[in-house]
This record gives sequence, structure tokens and C-alpha cells, in this order.
Amino acid sequence: MSTKIVIDCDPGHDDAIAILLALASPEVELIGVTTVAGNQTLDKTTRNALVTLEVGGRADIPVAAGADAPLSRELRTAAHVHGDSGLDGPELPEPRTQPVTEHAVDFLAEIIEGGTVLVPTAPLTNIALLLERHPEVRDRIEHIVWMGGAIGEGNVTPAAEFNAFVDPEAAAVVCASGIPLTMIGLDVTHKALFTRAHAERLREAGRAGRFVAELSDFFQRFHERSYGFEGSPIHDAMAVAHVIDPTLVTARTANVAVETSSELCDGRTVVDLRGVTGRPENADVGVDVDADRFLELLVSRIESLP
Ligand code: RIB
Ligand code: CA
Repeated sequence: MSTKIVIDCDPGHDDAIAILLALASPEVELIGVTTVAGNQTLDKTTRNALVTLEVGGRADIPVAAGADAPLSRELRTAAHVHGDSGLDGPELPEPRTQPVTEHAVDFLAEIIEGGTVLVPTAPLTNIALLLERHPEVRDRIEHIVWMGGAIGEGNVTPAAEFNAFVDPEAAAVVCASGIPLTMIGLDVTHKALFTRAHAERLREAGRAGRFVAELSDFFQRFHERSYGFEGSPIHDAMAVAHVIDPTLVTARTANVAVETSSELCDGRTVVDLRGVTGRPENADVGVDVDADRFLELLVSRIESLP
């Protein structure tokens, strides 16, 4: 019996690879994709989601566009990481499909049924709006597996990871929601690097494999330049992989709170692993990952796509 999932994303190289991993994995059924402004503006992230589903041979899966800006801040994009298109690297076909006309928040309220797992791989603006505008949906969300946050160093500022940094208020709402939450943060995603060898394995593997190889060629440049890494963390794919196989990531239950009013630390996910604050535990936080098994799952599944 596969798990119904919705990916809320800002494609984005790693979002696109996460979508393809979901399409290639019988353990999950991707019932919809919603988009939000983040890595690039909403028009670009939405177009990229449509293109990715076409590359994966599943243009039938509905896409709904959501928030074009954070709840209460100016949008900060990541063109320096993902390029002007948001998916620089491969040649991007003009999508042959359109998003549904409904706003992502209303679309989510409609399609989420009991047992659905929500996999946000972006700033949490849509999810916070969903909980505010459609509180009745809460009970139908089985679990939220969020790629975002960090116990340790951030990647936008020393304190904050991008998805939390762009919309700290939204992240605070979701962390305080009481819905079962797993946080897949930089502490685990940076432990599993997709290398050129993985890309070469995929380059001849079919349309989706070639697409991922060309995405990683571009994505790698940022990580080489900024971190000196020999590979790239495919952050968002690890959130999907956690739904596919929850034994890959080791998580610890803790309180996660989000800083929203600090000059230096806005967007910081403050993870209280030792319970020193007395704040109630509200999330399972990734602290380790079996990198080899995750990467083998990712590459072998993408390899299986036409
Ligand atoms: O910090 C990494 C996260 O921010 C990933 O989801 C990436 O796609 C960007 O959205
Ligand atoms: Ca993302």
C-alpha cells in the first residue's frame, strides 16, 4: 500500500530531483504538486514543476501555484544557486500543461485526505496559509516531512537555512502546529553528496537520468565554489526518501522553535536536543543519515525512469 504524498516546492534543482524520485518510487503516490516562491519567483518555480513532471512522464499530476511572497517579508530568491530560470543546466522544454486555476492553499485543502503525508521542500508559506485558512485539514495531515532548518550552521546566514530564512514566520507556525513533523535539515543533507560519478551513471540512463545529470552539473558549481564540496547535497530528495524508507535518516525528538525577530539570527531553527528549555517536543529532527544507502536509492530509482 503506497503512501499518498503532496510535494510543496520551489524548483529548484533539488526539488526537481525530489519530484522525480517520488515518481520512480512505488512506496509513494504523488497526488499533487504545489509551488511557492523561494529559489525563484513563483512563475518560474511553477513552470519548473510542470517541466519536471513532463520529463518524468507524469504531466497528468496536477500542479497548483501558491504564494508569490513570504507571509510578511520581502522575497529572497537563490538565483546564485539555481540560476535565472531556477533550473539552469539542462535545456528546458516549454511546458505543454498549465497549473490548475485554484490557489495551492485551496487545492491542498481539497486533495489532502486522511493519511496524506505533506512533503514541503521550500519556504513554508503555503503550509502556514493552509493551516490558517483551512484548519479543518489539520486532522487529515498524517505527517509533515519538511526539508529545511539546521541544528548547526545555516546556508544563507551562519544562523539560518534558506527555507526557514525566507519565511521564518511561516516556519514558526508549522513548527508550533502540533502536526507530526520531521525536520530534514542541513545537518543530514550535507552528509550525502551526489558526485560526478553518480551523474555519469545517470547521463545515459534515459531522459530523466540525463535531466538529473545536467541539473547536477550546474548545481555542483555552487557547492564547489561555496563549500569546496566534491558533490552536491540533494537536500529535497532526502525528505522524499525519508517517506520511502524511514530507516535512512536517524532522527531525535526535540523542540524546534524559529527565530523571527533577531538582527543576526532570523530564520534560525533553534533545536533543543537536550530539553534544556522546557519547551514541548514538537518534531523529529534528522541527526544522521546512511548516505550510501540514500544515494543508491536516489540514483537507482532515477535510473529506472524512462
Ligand atoms: O537550504 C536548501 C533548501 O533551500 C532546498 O529546499 C533548496 O531547494 C532551497 O529551497
Ligand atoms: Ca527547495
